[in-house]
Amino acid sequence: MKVCKSLFAVCFSVLIVFLAVAPIASAAQDTGKKVVVGLSADFAPYEFRKNINGKDEIVGSDIEIAKRVAAADMGAELQIQDIAFDSLLPALDSGRIDMIISGMTPTDERRQNVDFSDTYYISRQVIVTRAEDKTKYKTMDSLKGAAIGVQRGSIQQDIAEGIQGAKLSPVDKVSDIMLQLESNRVDAAVMEGPVAEGQVLNHPDLAITDIQIPDSDTPMAIAVQKGNTELLGQINKTLAELKANDEIDKFVEAAFKLNSGETDGETAEQIKDKPKPNIFQIFWDYRSYYWQGIQYTLFLSAMGVLFGFIIGLIVSLLRLSQISVFRWLAMTYIEILRGTPMLVQLLIIHYGIAQAFNINFTVLESGIITLSINSSAYLAEIFRAGIQGVDRGQTEAARSLGMSYGATMRHIIIPQAIKSVLPAIGNEFVVIIKESSIVSFIGVADLMFQAQAVRSITYSALSPLIIAAAIYFVMTFILSKLLGIVERRLSASDQR
Ligand code: ARG
Repeated sequence: MKVCKSLFAVCFSVLIVFLAVAPIASAAQDTGKKVVVGLSADFAPYEFRKNINGKDEIVGSDIEIAKRVAAADMGAELQIQDIAFDSLLPALDSGRIDMIISGMTPTDERRQNVDFSDTYYISRQVIVTRAEDKTKYKTMDSLKGAAIGVQRGSIQQDIAEGIQGAKLSPVDKVSDIMLQLESNRVDAAVMEGPVAEGQVLNHPDLAITDIQIPDSDTPMAIAVQKGNTELLGQINKTLAELKANDEIDKFVEAAFKLNSGETDGETAEQIKDKPKPNIFQIFWDYRSYYWQGIQYTLFLSAMGVLFGFIIGLIVSLLRLSQISVFRWLAMTYIEILRGTPMLVQLLIIHYGIAQAFNINFTVLESGIITLSINSSAYLAEIFRAGIQGVDRGQTEAARSLGMSYGATMRHIIIPQAIKSVLPAIGNEFVVIIKESSIVSFIGVADLMFQAQAVRSITYSALSPLIIAAAIYFVMTFILSKLLGIVERRLSASDQR
């Protein structure tokens, strides 16, 4: 009876979490005609995140272009997916997004996999260093053998690879390049000119060098799936209109001001001199981000453990089955899932399945599926230990009383097994809360994702992460304590 009650309590708590965060799940459902644009929102003034009237928004000149492309020509609702730059092409290839508008340069290599629109903007490349090193680096030659920061998968990486003896350390986000410079991990960085100008404004200790990079004028264009000429035609038509009215330049100018804060009535000088906000201020200003992240993280973890519980129980029964094929299947399932990194599983489910079977899970669905099957493998082993831990005599007694194998399992063995493994299941929940942070990789707005967003908005490297760490800790600590109480209750009932 006690076991039933505890099980009920566990299910009930999961349900509560579910109800608390159900709105986010329904928000993830989409309706009507839409066009999905993929971009890496770390690239002010083209695309970046900004807190506008307390709301997190992705803004920039590329967004203005995307709005025109979506609304004006296709009457569709614009949906934006913020993905790491080097994941954009795979996302387009697998059909998760309809187009890329991310300051992307049409290179021959990329053209092999996607089609590009006409050029909509010409940018240039510059070298950024620490302010005190500005005079040290005057020519491309002076960069020989230097440690160079670049964004992973960008043409800046190609440029840096062309520098003799350069040591590259590519990172996902442009803001991380600035941190690499500030923490002396790299000596210089290759960046897009306007992007560098915006960054330097917020990092007064960094500067743009006078180095001239050969052939550094680089075009930007919109990428679509290969062969999608219809969409491409529509895009080119919109771009032609925008260019005829000089609108794109205006978009870039306005976005640059929005990024630097000039539209808030501050001059560039004032922005430079502004004191950096401290960690408590950041937490308070961005509490809505963190709160949303907490909801997603708890929802995902609860779903992961719930489905993991169900799948895990089935797998453990197969694992203990008398039929060798079942045993073998279950063992393979467990070994494969435990022997491969969860990140790889996530990417296979999200991108691989989409491509292979043409099933497009939303980012949230992919996250839940990955966490569920991953934890099911661990839970299956926990259940097995629990089932095997029930004294054999009980099975024998039940069977000699005439109970069938199934009935013995259902009424005698499994209830006791579950009771003995409840603490281990709780631990799995704690583990999943922490591990779920990898889903931010595909763009689920969980706590880790929000911390990254706050980092790029505030230009603050460390504080947003420390806040996230503190929140993860508080969540897992409270949960462990609660589990401790449940465990004590359970063992007290044993004593009776
Ligand atoms: N133009 C460069 C390229 O195509 C960099 C673009 C980076 N874009 C971004 N949103 N981070 O490789």
